[in-house]
Order: sequence, then structure tokens, then C-alpha cells
Amino acid sequence: MAILKRLAETARPPVAFTLDGKACSALAGDTVLTAVLTQAEQLRVSEFGGGPRAGFCMMGACQDCWMQREDGTRLRACSTYIEPGMRLRSLPPPAAQVAGTLAAAVAGEQAP
Ligand code: FES
Repeated sequence: MAILKRLAETARPPVAFTLDGKACSALAGDTVLTAVLTQAEQLRVSEFGGGPRAGFCMMGACQDCWMQREDGTRLRACSTYIEPGMRLRSLPPPAAQVAGTLAAAVAGEQAP
């Protein structure tokens, strides 16, 4: 069940994006935070313990809303507008996929 329910401005054009590989739809002018929380119960999973996070201040100050695109780049969901085709993830990537980590180096060494 989504945390946010849209009550107004429902006539804005739709914007397609994906969240954890699932096709989703937001409205033009939504922040990433609004786009995600009108679809899901949480914004992301904390990298420090796995707890659910949904942002806190909604104004770019608390740093609680950092998410990742599928390419690994980070964005602050409360101050970034959703864009068509945006591919977002709510889970941190496996350590083996994070460049510069020991796990990535080990995974690279084992690749054929
Ligand atoms: S919700 Fe606080 S910085 Fe985004």
C-alpha cells in the first residue's frame, strides 16, 4: 500500500519510470519522492541496518531520501524531479557491484 495518496492535480501528464524493475507511473512535476511514495510503502532500504526509509524533512536537509538509479548514481529524492524512463532502485546494490569495494575486486578476479 502506498504511503501517499494523490488528491489534487491529477490531470498532469503521466511520466513512466521503473522502481526495482517494476513499471510505474508518476505525473509530470512530481519529485522522485512523491513518485515513489505514491507507488510504494517505502522510499528505500537503509544501507545501515536494512530499515525502511521514506524521507523526513522533504526539503533537502536531512539526507534521509538518497536513492540510486540502476546505473548506481545517487539522487536526493525530495529535490529531484522524476524524468521519463528513470530507472530507480530502493535497495542498495550487492557489494560485488560497487566499484572500488573489496567484494567488487574479488568478483572481478573470478570473472572469466
Ligand atoms: S527528505 Fe530530507 S533531504 Fe530529502
